[in-house]
Amino acid sequence: MSSNPLAPSWLAVPDDANALPEVVWSRNATRSGAGELEIAGVGATALAQRFGTPLYVVDEADVKSRAAGIRESFDREFARVGSSAKVYYAGKAFLSIEVARWVTDAGLNIDVASGGELAVALAAGVDPSRLGLHGNNKSLAEIDRAVGVGVGAIVIDSEIEVSRVAEAATRHARVQPVRLRINSGVHASTHEYLATAREDQKFGIPLADAPAIVALIRTQPSLQFLGLHSHIGSQIFESDGFAEAARRLFALHAELLADGPVPELNLGGGFGIAYTSVDEPLEIDEVAVRFADIVASGAAELGIPVPVVAIEPGRTIVGPSTTTLYTVGTIKDVLVTLPGALETPAIRKYVSIDGGMSDNVRPSLYGADYSVRLANRSSDAEPVLVRIAGKHCESGDIVVRADYLPGDVRPGDLVGVPATGAYGWAMASNYNYLGRPPVVAVIDGEARVIVRGETEEDLLARDMGLAPQAREPRR
Ligand SMILES: Cc1ncc(COP(=O)(O)O)c(C=O)c1O
Repeated sequence: MSSNPLAPSWLAVPDDANALPEVVWSRNATRSGAGELEIAGVGATALAQRFGTPLYVVDEADVKSRAAGIRESFDREFARVGSSAKVYYAGKAFLSIEVARWVTDAGLNIDVASGGELAVALAAGVDPSRLGLHGNNKSLAEIDRAVGVGVGAIVIDSEIEVSRVAEAATRHARVQPVRLRINSGVHASTHEYLATAREDQKFGIPLADAPAIVALIRTQPSLQFLGLHSHIGSQIFESDGFAEAARRLFALHAELLADGPVPELNLGGGFGIAYTSVDEPLEIDEVAVRFADIVASGAAELGIPVPVVAIEPGRTIVGPSTTTLYTVGTIKDVLVTLPGALETPAIRKYVSIDGGMSDNVRPSLYGADYSVRLANRSSDAEPVLVRIAGKHCESGDIVVRADYLPGDVRPGDLVGVPATGAYGWAMASNYNYLGRPPVVAVIDGEARVIVRGETEEDLLARDMGLAPQAREPRR
């Protein structure tokens, strides 16, 4: 079958529109003998009947094995170069009490980016010394709580935070370990990276200003300087950007060693995952090998000891684990012409589902691509180009811009969108008063809710219109 001219150039007509490419789907996703999508032995139809749709389905063993895998790879490779590595799970990707326990049981630390994320990690019983706190504008209350409970590291993002963290530490009679976030001028995204003197963005401190701020940190008896931090972007498929950032940070790291200890170097997160079958992310083993080589050779060139390296991956741990299940509601064949490019109309099939940008804002926020498969059944019908549209009042409310589904897709079918575990639920909203969907963990043929869905009662709970005081005359 020839491809639809409306399809993007990277998207080929699949040989089998029911196949679940391993690179995109969670490790325990398969098709049953009858053709239905099953995740960890639980069928899509049973999940939808029991929990409703939209539904985030997390393959629990997948998260656990990726978390353990990244820790083992980094432990092994940094031991090879005579050092060690600390892996922080970036909780912003998706944090719940269960997830916090899964990743810490796998030996990871957790990086939190707000008081709310800190509260979830603490509620999960995570030892605060295994937490790091980030943010370009932490409130005084967030700093105070983090210092008070004894978080293992706070990443200082601007000069003004030095005194804020130092004062909180003095109040709590603690010595607070801190890192300093550097704006290295390196920004990476997928295959490209951009290196400038200073990237035009809100995070971090320019390299040139860092020595003075580190000196200031070192004058504070209530602070302990751990080292520099850099995070160069997200969904990165190559290691060149990390190498360039590490090279820039290393020069500064070596300079800082002249005046005191710099035990660690934090190179952030951002490792890419596959959202479609054409994406080719680096294997985590390979990332660990390259990181260890980059750091070891950088240290050798400067004649300094190999520091302990910290990393903060989020997406690569939880992203591939989750499939969002939706129910198809309406279907429209839209005839499209593109003046100057496509004079003969072609059909784009709009398949509308019962969720959308409120449960996955990434496509509308930054044009992210996803893929889709029929979930309740498989089908031999010819594949047709589809666009999976949400139900919100926005024409940009698209979940999957382009993929092929069997042409007999019909209302009532379930579809599964894989690789929605990172920045899906975490960025969900109540737009159009849709309740945020539940998150269900599946493992060994069992399913259980780990975050319940929002009800109409939840949606009305904070609206004061029905409260007694609302009946008093307005002032
Ligand atoms: C400072 C920092 N660390 C780590 C991460 C995690 O990135 P990813 O989920 O792409 O690995 C982010 C993401 O925005 C970040 O800002």
